[in-house]
Amino acid sequence: MNTLPSHNLIRCRGLSKTYRKGTTTVTPLEALDLDVARGEFLALMGPSGSGKTTLLNLIAGIDHPTSGELWIGERNLATLSRGALTSWRARNCGYIFQLYHLVPILTAFENVELPLLLNPALSRDERRARVHSALDLVGLSDRLNHRPSELSGGQEQRVAIARAIVTDPELLVADEPTGDLDRESAKSILQLMSELSADLGKTIVMVTHDAIAAAAASRTLHLEKGQLIEQIGISKADTNPNG
Ligand SMILES: Nc1ncnc2c1ncn2[C@@H]1O[C@H](COP(=O)(O)OP(=O)(O)OP(=O)(O)O)[C@@H](O)[C@H]1O
Ligand SMILES: [Mg+2]
Repeated sequence: MNTLPSHNLIRCRGLSKTYRKGTTTVTPLEALDLDVARGEFLALMGPSGSGKTTLLNLIAGIDHPTSGELWIGERNLATLSRGALTSWRARNCGYIFQLYHLVPILTAFENVELPLLLNPALSRDERRARVHSALDLVGLSDRLNHRPSELSGGQEQRVAIARAIVTDPELLVADEPTGDLDRESAKSILQLMSELSADLGKTIVMVTHDAIAAAAASRTLHLEKGQLIEQIGISKADTNPNG
């Protein structure tokens, strides 16, 4: 079995996913190859139903591929059991959703603390320090005790990003993270994600339908008919989200 070159965090080879429902089968991903360098911020575009969320869920260890190799660092996720995949995910991957998925009855602090409660080795003080620094990083130190209903959409997404990074995973995946935000809030979320990759070295795979959002990433790939195609014709200079 090949080992992963150290500059790549993600390596997919011949990756396929088939869903079966009754007599119908759908194969959104077919023998797909993908390499993502450590610290890269990759945007993934493609028509609705092309398999973008399917691919993210495989990379995040939420779902198993039907066939092929899916290396994240030293591990081929395709070979892990469901239980091993769940504990791998808790340590190694943060997931950011379009609609934030915060727990409505918990405060910002408590929402961000949730993933840390899965780690019994952390003391209460260590958890508190990590939550504070994650919320500080996303610029929300002054909203610790606010519930999601008391925050703007952009602030809710910042809390969700703090929750995704609080365990310090190397990999972040985001499914249309700016899809529900106005242009200004989207711009600041994209800026934050760029900083997470440029300053903290996070590897980010972001699905988006928005070419302006994609331009914040360092590379864009297009998913069509189960395959990934390099996106040409759009560059940061053409659609600068800060411009
Ligand atoms: N759990 C499932 N069971 C059966 N079919 C599924 C399942 N999840 C996704 N599919 C099918 O796989 C295909 C790809 O779905 P996916 O959600 O990955 O698309 P997408 O590119 O994320 O679309 P969108 O842009 O609308 O979010 C679709 O045809 C969908 O119906
Ligand atoms: Mg989707």
